[in-house]
Amino acid sequence: NPAPFMIQGPMPIEAEYFAGLLTDVRIEKAGHATFYLGNLNGYPIVVAQTGKGLENTAAATAVGIERYHPVAIINQGTSGGHDPTLNVGDIVLGKRAVNASNFKTPFRKRGEGSAPLQWLPMDLLASQGSAGEGDSAKDAERIRYYMGHKALLDAAREVKPEYKRGKVVEGTIASGNFWNNELDRIAWLHEQFGTSTEEMETAAAAQIAHGYGVPFLGVRVLSNNLTNEGHYDPSTAKGCQQFVKALIENL
Ligand code: 5AD
Repeated sequence: NPAPFMIQGPMPIEAEYFAGLLTDVRIEKAGHATFYLGNLNGYPIVVAQTGKGLENTAAATAVGIERYHPVAIINQGTSGGHDPTLNVGDIVLGKRAVNASNFKTPFRKRGEGSAPLQWLPMDLLASQGSAGEGDSAKDAERIRYYMGHKALLDAAREVKPEYKRGKVVEGTIASGNFWNNELDRIAWLHEQFGTSTEEMETAAAAQIAHGYGVPFLGVRVLSNNLTNEGHYDPSTAKGCQQFVKALIENL
């Protein structure tokens, strides 16, 4: 049996359409994750409904890799635009993914308050030493990007014309257990981290996939974009899965 592709989506609206495309489906669970094992055009696929957020995603990714040994992982779903040139319905291919919630705060005295736009990035994979103090601390004051796998990006590029709901661009997917509604903070993340769009999962999956050496790509549709008054549209989640279907069929 060939090794499966794994398609991850956090919530039912981001996984059930794809799971419904599969034949001969068997369901397995692990913690908050549900795995749909089946076939698409005779090729084995695992659809993983991971649950929301960094922890659920990291756990589902590790368990999914250990159990099913996927040849590649696509993490897909909805997101909120940081780039005003992107509209609700547009898709961002994750040339890079970044955890945009890992920070070290510069020292401030009692009474000096908190200044989130001064916070420094913190790379949790930088060294074996402490990221907070000591010789290796400076080392860790940088942004860790996870690069999208080249062959997966190439395959995604080729099927761009099949997506009619909006444009498909390459960019940086930012993850954190956050939903930012402060336009100045969004602009700061866009400038400091080069973010295209934000959500809560891709960087966690990318980090674990990279640790295991499994090819990985994030694919995120904008379901909202506060920077250009793009209102939340949950129907974008299905469009994203349709695009990922075309991508898988092209692999
Ligand atoms: N900020 C954060 N997460 C978002 N999501 C969609 N839009 C946003 C946004 N603007 C996604 C997350 C999470 C769920 C709440 O929707 O990835 O799974």
